[in-house]
Amino acid sequence: MNKSISILGIFVADTAYLAARMPVVGETITGSGFAVGPGGKGSNQAVAAARASAVSGQGPCVSFISKIGRDTFGDLALKTYAEAGVIPRLTVMDDQPTGAAFIYVNDKTGDNAIIVYPGAAGTITVDDVEAARAVIEASAIFVTQLEQPAEAAHHALKIARAAGVTTIFNPAPAEPFPDAIYGLCDYIIPNETEAAALVGFPLDTIEDAKRAGDVLLGRGVGAAIITLGSRGVLFHAHNASVAIPAVAVGPVLDTTGAGDAFVGGFAAALADGKSPVDAVRFGCATAGIAVTRRGTAPAMPRREEIDALLSR
Ligand code: RIB
Ligand code: NA
Repeated sequence: MNKSISILGIFVADTAYLAARMPVVGETITGSGFAVGPGGKGSNQAVAAARASAVSGQGPCVSFISKIGRDTFGDLALKTYAEAGVIPRLTVMDDQPTGAAFIYVNDKTGDNAIIVYPGAAGTITVDDVEAARAVIEASAIFVTQLEQPAEAAHHALKIARAAGVTTIFNPAPAEPFPDAIYGLCDYIIPNETEAAALVGFPLDTIEDAKRAGDVLLGRGVGAAIITLGSRGVLFHAHNASVAIPAVAVGPVLDTTGAGDAFVGGFAAALADGKSPVDAVRFGCATAGIAVTRRGTAPAMPRREEIDALLSR
């Protein structure tokens, strides 16, 4: 059975600053911690999926399609994939840097604010996606987001759909994208803010989330999976609407990359043959563990940890 996952997205180096609050413009404040680590939504999702799949070397193989620069941050990308068991499908550019993100993390609540600069990955074109066509077509599941240009995401989703590959679209960050993308999504996975931007009303209650799910179904997605932070996740399809609670594991240290943990865990579980609702539960457990650890990709849990949590 073909269980492989391909992911198109960006890698950046996350530079994370811990502080009691955000500085205001013109102000300097002293932080309480700092770390550099691998990040970028697509890359985080690839690491999450690979770790969530790995049972003694078994499980789906995960390919990550992107562009990086020939620099120190690019080296960090390659080291990350070697360690996580992700197959890198990367173009290395000589005239563009690897991207980077400024991340503020509140040192009490773990909440974050991010500026991301995609660098080389911001230049991913339709031609670049064409060059990865065989990788996408050979996979069982394809995943993408909106940190690289939307035309690249759109083209890749077209390739995946035409090849009968299950498609997962994470419309993050909340950037505009062509309406034609909706009809190419087996699963769309926005968070509550992104969903609100897509449908034009706030998601204050589960009823609001269901209404948003209906709007997304009306636009042609197979199912809408709306992540609601500590309120859990709504799985909303034509034949089922299920609210799944968040999995609380321990003190929340850093919520950065929680959505990526969910998407990667969900994709790994689908590739493993779980039902969509069970795959949502698996994604919730993946994210539940990730938020108890600092950083994004480095916080992604292993399969054994997720299984242990789910069998509790
Ligand atoms: O989703 C979290 C990610 O978004 C971070 O790793 C940061 O790089 C930004 O791209
Ligand atoms: Na984390």
